[in-house]
Amino acid sequence: MNKQIKSILLLFFLVIYTIGIAQKKEKLNAIYSGIPWHDDKGNTVSAHGAGIIKDNNRYYLFGEYKSDSTIDFTGFSCYSSSDLYNWKFEKIALPVQESGKLGLNRIGERPKVMKCPKTGEYIMYMHTDDLKYKDQCVGYATSKTINGVYTFQGALLFNGQPIKKWDMGTFQDTDGSGYVITHSGNLYKLSDDYKSVTEQIVKDMTKHCEAPVIFKKDNTYFWLGSGLTSWERNDNYYFTATSLKGPWISHENFAPKDSLTWNSQSTFALPIVGSKDTTYLFGGDRWAFPHQKSAATYVWQPLIVKDDVLSLPDYKENWQINTITGEWSNLTLKGTIIQNSDTKNIKYSDNWKKEPTKDSFTDNSSDAKGASFSVNFNGTQIGLYSVARPNGGYAQVEIQDAGGKTIQSNLIEMYCKYPESSLKYLSPILNKGNYKLIVTVTGEHGNWYKKDGTGFGSTGNFVSVDRIIVK
Ligand code: DGJ
Repeated sequence: MNKQIKSILLLFFLVIYTIGIAQKKEKLNAIYSGIPWHDDKGNTVSAHGAGIIKDNNRYYLFGEYKSDSTIDFTGFSCYSSSDLYNWKFEKIALPVQESGKLGLNRIGERPKVMKCPKTGEYIMYMHTDDLKYKDQCVGYATSKTINGVYTFQGALLFNGQPIKKWDMGTFQDTDGSGYVITHSGNLYKLSDDYKSVTEQIVKDMTKHCEAPVIFKKDNTYFWLGSGLTSWERNDNYYFTATSLKGPWISHENFAPKDSLTWNSQSTFALPIVGSKDTTYLFGGDRWAFPHQKSAATYVWQPLIVKDDVLSLPDYKENWQINTITGEWSNLTLKGTIIQNSDTKNIKYSDNWKKEPTKDSFTDNSSDAKGASFSVNFNGTQIGLYSVARPNGGYAQVEIQDAGGKTIQSNLIEMYCKYPESSLKYLSPILNKGNYKLIVTVTGEHGNWYKKDGTGFGSTGNFVSVDRIIVK
């Protein structure tokens, strides 16, 4: 090749490389709770009632791929990440089946995957049910690879019979034995191939106790669970024991009383074992029925574990975990703050005002369907802090580019049984430029009922703006 062609080729590759670097977006550098997450394709991460498993130095998140309008099973999703901040959508790991326990018009919840040490197979366990939650059963599915499409195998059997329980979880002990836990305090030991149950270790230890989770630190086992309040949040509690057989000692809530577990329900606890420390990640769901796909969020917090005492003393909107060292640290979201009174930067349409409330917040809010506000900004990211209250509703959030094209759209929820102000939306990281944030009142809120008919949910459609942050 002559010299001139060589230099042209070199220049060409240099230009391509430079453009590549310039376009490479920054990645998220923290775990954020209470906001919709975006995957590598810009879609909302939908993995609720989830479980996490580490495999080959990567974390795999399996969860309910929720719908925005029904409670029907719409598949289990699989996402993967190396840092627990940025999630790649792998696939629908278990789609709706043609018929049977996970066919149309059925419930499929709380998928949890474990790798069977004996066979090397990946086994996914889940709760299957009818739409009235009257045909509950623990089912399982298998795959040769962690991120494959799992084959549904039907009911997990104990003495030839299905386990007729609803909320469930799994636990793998340090000796490789696998366990399935269900609501009301039941613990079952799995066979060597993880495909049936050989023994019931704990029977009806407690009343209710949904969303069960077990993890172990040193020689202590921790069993977490929630009260039975449908999609409503409650103060989750825990038990401890030095043997899985018990005796299990009952403790009260691990998050401050009446924080309602920082508005979440337990779904997993992941030990992040590093070179210097082990952090126990509490994974919780902040349900947002009926718009679960868009508006239900994740509450992931570092659990403080001291001897046999668990706590989540404060709510961390964002924090960092080093998956190599296992250490976690606090992080403050930095940027330019725009207060809600700044009408130069926030353009309100319709009637947004400070409602006379009994709380101390000074946010602007509106419940008028279609009312909106917008903020033009130059930067790479925008966030919205709002007050959630018992009369909170849904808001539609949009980001438009300089040409007025919508490049991001999300539904968020502002319901909480007690008033609290926190980050409710954070845009994906954008290429630096001019954008517009538009937030609109949808005029909707969620209501739902538990099995005995008790009603829950919001009393109004309020959307609030406490402040805006621009990065
Ligand atoms: C609470 C459970 O923990 C969830 O998984 C789900 O089944 C809801 N109840 C349904 O109301």
